[in-house]
Amino acid sequence: MAQEDIFKKVVAHCKEYGYVFQSSEIYDGLGAVYDYGQNGVELKNNIKKYWWDSMVKLHENVVGLDSAIFMHPTIWKASGHVDAFSDPLIDNKDSKKRYRADVLIEEQLAKIEEKINKEVAKAKKRFGDSFNEQQFRETNPRVLANKEKWDALHSRFAKALNDSDLNELKQIIVDQAIVCPVSGSRNWTEVRQFNLMFATEMGATAEGASKIYLRPETAQGIFVNYLNVQKTGRMKIPFGIAQIGKAFRNEIVARQFIFRMREFEQMEMQFFVRPGTELDWFEKWKDTRMKWHKALGFGDENYRFHEHEKLAHYANAAVDVEYKFPFGFKEVEGIHSRTDFDLSQHEEYSGKKIRYFDPELNESYVPFVVETSIGVDRMFLQIISAAYCEEQLEKDKRVVLKLPVALAPIKLAVLPLVKKDGLPEKAREIINELKFDFNCQYDEKDSIGKRYRRQDAIGTPFCVTVDHQSAEDNTVTIRYRDTMEQERVSIEDLGKIIGEQVNFKKLFEEL
Ligand code: GAP
Repeated sequence: MAQEDIFKKVVAHCKEYGYVFQSSEIYDGLGAVYDYGQNGVELKNNIKKYWWDSMVKLHENVVGLDSAIFMHPTIWKASGHVDAFSDPLIDNKDSKKRYRADVLIEEQLAKIEEKINKEVAKAKKRFGDSFNEQQFRETNPRVLANKEKWDALHSRFAKALNDSDLNELKQIIVDQAIVCPVSGSRNWTEVRQFNLMFATEMGATAEGASKIYLRPETAQGIFVNYLNVQKTGRMKIPFGIAQIGKAFRNEIVARQFIFRMREFEQMEMQFFVRPGTELDWFEKWKDTRMKWHKALGFGDENYRFHEHEKLAHYANAAVDVEYKFPFGFKEVEGIHSRTDFDLSQHEEYSGKKIRYFDPELNESYVPFVVETSIGVDRMFLQIISAAYCEEQLEKDKRVVLKLPVALAPIKLAVLPLVKKDGLPEKAREIINELKFDFNCQYDEKDSIGKRYRRQDAIGTPFCVTVDHQSAEDNTVTIRYRDTMEQERVSIEDLGKIIGEQVNFKKLFEEL
């Protein structure tokens, strides 16, 4: 099945099984804003717990924070967001659709890469086991010609971005004959910069009101609290502050479901270090974060690092963790060495000293910062697309979400075989015992087969079936989602069997 079709199915599945709904759906929706349903909110909470505990519980020198969304407007002037947090936009005059010029060019690059990969896949099929991919990539004339095209376009694009040369971005679009996906025409406007921050007003009267922004990243709340946390927590450098919270961006192109939203949630950690050591810490955090992703077991080959074409105004090194989504390798997380840019700017704009006295060096300095920043919603999409699976069975087909068990919204479903003979009561007894430790669901409707399929579709790792034998010997069958194997176990042992598997500790031990 084509990857695009799989993605459409994932989106439909999210709606059908209570994971994600379009916001304001009964009013025809609101662009790029989404709500999380009964299963979605559980998965989202579990993702946040996986991140939070791995940062704050597992690192003695990382502590948490929950700062407000509204902040003093000067913060955004100091951080550079008022002047520089913008995307280059371009309109197609025929379709009246608006695009990000850089995204149009990135998609063109991805098309060339796709051509190379298709060539390699074809050859792999033809030559079978004797295929030497590296040699093929280095010698095949068609691959080499496309590689040359890719390199030339990539370096021209990177230069245009670095020089903030909007005319050159437009020229690349013209030279590459990029067409509007809706109208199919090349009738483009000039490229303009568009600030992504949402603004609102705070204050009771129109005259007294001041313009404030909805934060476009949670990071600034950490920077402006650096001294509070360092002093009250008696933190010694190196140390980190972690925060999870909402962020808002007026994205020009909001596509691909929850990949790019206007209201989303970030999990960010700013790690404060001694100047000169930041690039070592950058490497350490790259490594730590990649392990965190890979521990979920979706296949190491589906992750890669991507170096930035253009460094943000605050960074001296930056890399993305990319995952192979059904629509290609895309960013899930950014890791940035932000230098002392933010703290120095806040010193200057606030007039307050933001320093650390280093007792080992016997001097004060503005700390340097390494940041890890990941979107909760994007991580959600990564997990759900990786977990979605259609399996052909002997007699029928099943759709199963192979979610990491620790992240699954419902850990076990308890199913009485029939709705009589005391089996529902027995099932309720089991839930009453286990509900303090695990999210349980009771289901007695339809045949047992249909109930298993329903639980597979929402990713429940364990189904416990109560039958007539259960009343006699206090045993039940437990069915495992991924293998569909069943075994008879004592009701007494259920807590232990399930507890061992759903525990976050299993994931953390891989880090
Ligand atoms: N503080 C640094 C920062 O915000 P970023 O690369 O702009 O860096 C970090 O964002 C992460 O936030 C991204 O890797 C992505 O996971 C998530 N993110 C950014 N914009 C988003 C959007 N419009 N919708 C959903 N997630 C987004």
